[in-house]
Amino acid sequence: MTDRTGQFHGLRVVLAIIGAVIAVSGITAPLLSHEMTTIAAHHLLHAGMAAGAGLLGLGLARGRRGLERSGWLWPAVIAPAIGLVLMWPSEYAWLMSHPWLHMLDHLGIALCALLAVYAAQSYVGGLGWLMLVLLVAMDAACAGGFGVAPGPSFLLEPGKSAVAMANMTPSTGGKSATSRPAATMSAMGSKLYQTMGCGGCHSVDGTKGVGPTWKNLAGYPQKLKDGKVAIASYQFLRMMILDPGKIDLAGYPQGVMPASYRTALAGPRHPHETRLNAIIWYINTLSNRAGKVSEPPVPDEIKP
Ligand code: HEC
Repeated sequence: MTDRTGQFHGLRVVLAIIGAVIAVSGITAPLLSHEMTTIAAHHLLHAGMAAGAGLLGLGLARGRRGLERSGWLWPAVIAPAIGLVLMWPSEYAWLMSHPWLHMLDHLGIALCALLAVYAAQSYVGGLGWLMLVLLVAMDAACAGGFGVAPGPSFLLEPGKSAVAMANMTPSTGGKSATSRPAATMSAMGSKLYQTMGCGGCHSVDGTKGVGPTWKNLAGYPQKLKDGKVAIASYQFLRMMILDPGKIDLAGYPQGVMPASYRTALAGPRHPHETRLNAIIWYINTLSNRAGKVSEPPVPDEIKP
């Protein structure tokens, strides 16, 4: 190879392998985890991914000290700029409900980091290391909110947004669907309704299925098998989804709805129950009696 020593070459191979492993795990993260984190934590993931892709770039580049190849200057300047644009966080909630596109976005960011470091190292040997440090610093700075425009999505700042959600007027007549937080959550819920198979048993247009329709469910009284009646509040809906065996509705078979949704929606892996709440927001938008009683709560730690 063109390296001065075999030892140096070996180091590059090791760097490339470590970098590739880190980068690939960052790129595929959107497919593996559906739990929503804060935007800051997510930018730290970007930083780790950029570091991995950058190390891969260093491993691949054959920068030689003192040998300047000016053709690499422009890629080294432009790639980080494109990477920054790809981190524009305007529709985080939307990205979370479109994991494949989110993965493509991560792929773009990683490729930009790879190209930036490779180009810098090819431009002047050693400069790739500086580029690597700068890229990671840039992503970490984004995590601190620096240089990142506050996007329109309320999920960018879960604290503030949840407070905004709590202050929202009770949704009547599906009005909450027009407010942005509810619309964003409900869009995610609608997606989950399809991807998690709820639609196989629950219609959203009033048609009777294996299970009750979700149209005009939230806020309406539910007849139970033991003769009692319960209002479909948030607590009621939450329990029906997480523990369908606990309450038996009149006119519907018990034990048919899978009890397995609990692990996918709540529990230690989903402490904020974001996906569960998204589904309940969606159910709310389908009812003309949804109101405060059926709206998911604001977690205690972010109440004003
Ligand atoms: C295999 C069929 C099936 C699937 C799939 C299914 N459900 Fe159900 N669901 C039922 C049945 C049956 C009931 C009534 C249970 C009872 O009587 O206790 C029910 C009840 C409910 C209720 C209470 C409805 C009411 O009228 O009070 C909610 C809410 C609910 N399901 C949500 C969901 C969600 C969310 C999903 C997807 C993540 C889902 N279900 C998937 C069959 C299903």
